[in-house]
Amino acid sequence: MSSRFSEQDTEAFYDAEDALYRSFWDREGSLHWGWFDQTTGDDFLSACINLNRVMLEKASISPDSHVLDLGWLCRSAGCRVTGIDLSGVRIDNAIESLASQPPDVQGRLKFEKASATNLPFGDGAFSHVWSQATIYHIHDKEKALQEAYRVLAPGGYLVFDDLTKPRPDISSDARRYVYDRLLFDTDYSFTGYQDALLGTGFQLLESHDLSEHLGKSYSCLSRMAMAQREKDPEVYEGLSRAYDQMVLAVERQELGWGMYICQK
Ligand SMILES: C[S@@+](CC[C@H](N)C(=O)[O-])C[C@H]1O[C@@H](n2cnc3c(N)ncnc32)[C@H](O)[C@@H]1O
Repeated sequence: MSSRFSEQDTEAFYDAEDALYRSFWDREGSLHWGWFDQTTGDDFLSACINLNRVMLEKASISPDSHVLDLGWLCRSAGCRVTGIDLSGVRIDNAIESLASQPPDVQGRLKFEKASATNLPFGDGAFSHVWSQATIYHIHDKEKALQEAYRVLAPGGYLVFDDLTKPRPDISSDARRYVYDRLLFDTDYSFTGYQDALLGTGFQLLESHDLSEHLGKSYSCLSRMAMAQREKDPEVYEGLSRAYDQMVLAVERQELGWGMYICQK
């Protein structure tokens, strides 16, 4: 779909905001949402780690895997991972954080500045393509799915989560405080995404509508931002208000979240 926002807008946004997000979301730089269950209770970061665990298990990632992470972060998998990201700042921070890792971990992880719509890798180069909270930023999602398909070896897995638009007619508040604030829009509902994946040639192994967990994630984030307000009331109270709008948009079914496991 065409968009008012360009890749340069997204890159500039993440280059500028990485430090702010690290101040209250996750110091390690992870920027995704959580899958809550009885093991996590209401703890947001535990729920984020839980989502990583669930996705790793469902994608059958093992030490022999070679994973391409679109939008950077799959570092706890014990296998070779190449992380790409549009944001040079986020790539530099990821490379810097490698310095404190043991040599065997450093040898397995590579980071490169690139776009998911134009991957600088050969056909069939990876056993897995992984992505968390990233593809919604990409206007030409069909191109990103085709690129993921191209760089996967036959039988390889695409495992990812992404924001969805449950219905096309969204309110002006959702447009302003959710979609425009996050510089995105999408044609895909939860099931529309399934169709797009099948149309790209993937087999769909599993899909999960995680919208409820997205709402819960943003309630937690609203509290976490407010807890920092003494540092800068305008910034953190503003973020907290924005996150309350995210919760409302999920409740009104103007915003959704899905997770998909597919095979080439
Ligand atoms: C919300 S963050 C998620 C980061 C990480 N996956 C995580 O789970 O913490 C979205 C990331 O997607 C990156 N991104 C956006 N568009 C991209 C594109 N076309 N190609 C690669 N990365 C992109 C942004 O720079 C940002 O780092």
